Amino acid sequence: MNKKILITGGAGFIGSHLVRLFVNKYPHYTIVNLDKLTYAGNLENLKDIEGKPNYIFEKGDITNEKYILNLFVKYKFDGIIHLAAESHVDRSIENPMQFIMTNIIGTVNLLNASRKIWEEDFKNKMFYHVSTDEVYGSLGETGFFHETTPYDPQSPYSSSKASSDHFVRAYGNTYGIPYIVSNCSNNYGPNQFPEKLLPLFINNIKNNKSLPVYGDGKFTRDWLYVVDHVRAIDKIFHEGKIYETYNIGGFNEWKNIDLINLLCEKMDVALGRKKGTSVKLISYVKDRPGHDKRYAIDANKIKSELGWEPSLQFEEGLVKTIDWYLENQEWLRNITTGDYKDYYLKQYGKC
Ligand code: NAD
Ligand code: DAU
Repeated sequence: MNKKILITGGAGFIGSHLVRLFVNKYPHYTIVNLDKLTYAGNLENLKDIEGKPNYIFEKGDITNEKYILNLFVKYKFDGIIHLAAESHVDRSIENPMQFIMTNIIGTVNLLNASRKIWEEDFKNKMFYHVSTDEVYGSLGETGFFHETTPYDPQSPYSSSKASSDHFVRAYGNTYGIPYIVSNCSNNYGPNQFPEKLLPLFINNIKNNKSLPVYGDGKFTRDWLYVVDHVRAIDKIFHEGKIYETYNIGGFNEWKNIDLINLLCEKMDVALGRKKGTSVKLISYVKDRPGHDKRYAIDANKIKSELGWEPSLQFEEGLVKTIDWYLENQEWLRNITTGDYKDYYLKQYGKC
């Protein structure tokens, strides 16, 4: 079936992998990538699919209600996969309002426009909302986030994502908009903006800069290779049940400091440096305010109902990721200029 699909935030980290997958895998779909190209959006991520006949890029802002409505009237989308967001916790602590605008108001604008163009005829339509495990809050030493875990967001970022999830479900309940929400754990892989832990630390090790570990480094995250996340989104979009939630995770928990030690080992090998060189760059710094202790996803629902599971072993994914950043130094250089330097200085000082 021919479909017109809107992917929002398609020039960002996860969005660009999703756009590539859909454009290549579904030549009979038209994929419209809507992105504002904030500091995190980068069309370099999509160079390889730029001229494909089933791909259209639209530069625009989801917080602009009129623009969004016109775009929806122009294309009459069959499906929306919504990723556009402000996505970095540290930035949300600095500037919560930007997160409220993009993540909440932007999502509601998309819901209103969907309702308008679908005119209550929701057959074969889908609003797929991409969310995060951070909405569930923070775990102790044991236990997992299940799809039924009550929301308990702790940062301005996760609160704004939780709010957007609630709006999606409310529009399903109130107006009948067919939706699915998925909540995923920490992604890693190529094209991630170097404000997030792994690309930041890879870049710093390469440049012999210190590695700012927050607090005691004993915070735990569940890591998933980005291509496995977009494979899960594809599966859920096509085979998931409407009005359902799916948790996506890597079955792969790491304490930050253990992960950083492993990264340092692999970086020494990749850079041909003496064993133990990179680890000396570790520097414990002031903790992130309100830092969530542990995230761990129970991803058994998507595994048993849809047959999805991660395809990569973590060490294999980590080495692939390191290799990508080392082979794409120009990509990194192009985005670590003026604004990035200001952000870095403000966040980390001169370390
Ligand atoms: P990202 O920051 O790399 O990309 C976000 C994209 O959204 C950028 O291309 C940016 O230009 C665009 N954007 C921002 N504001 C916009 C606006 N007002 N209008 C249009 N476009 C706008 O983020 P990411 O890490 O790829 O995350 C994508 C989505 O997945 C987010 O919704 C995030 O909450 C969710 N998520 C991320 C992770 C993760 O580990 N990165 C895990 C789970 C869920
Ligand atoms: O869990 C999913 C979430 O994962 C996504 O929703 C977010 O968009 C994404 O940014 C990510 O959030 P985290 O806050 O977990 O990711 P980040 O890479 O910022 O940090 C990972 C861990 O590393 C966290 O415990 C904080 C720590 N950290 C991070 C940075 C940037 C440090 O110790 N030092 C740092 O400099």
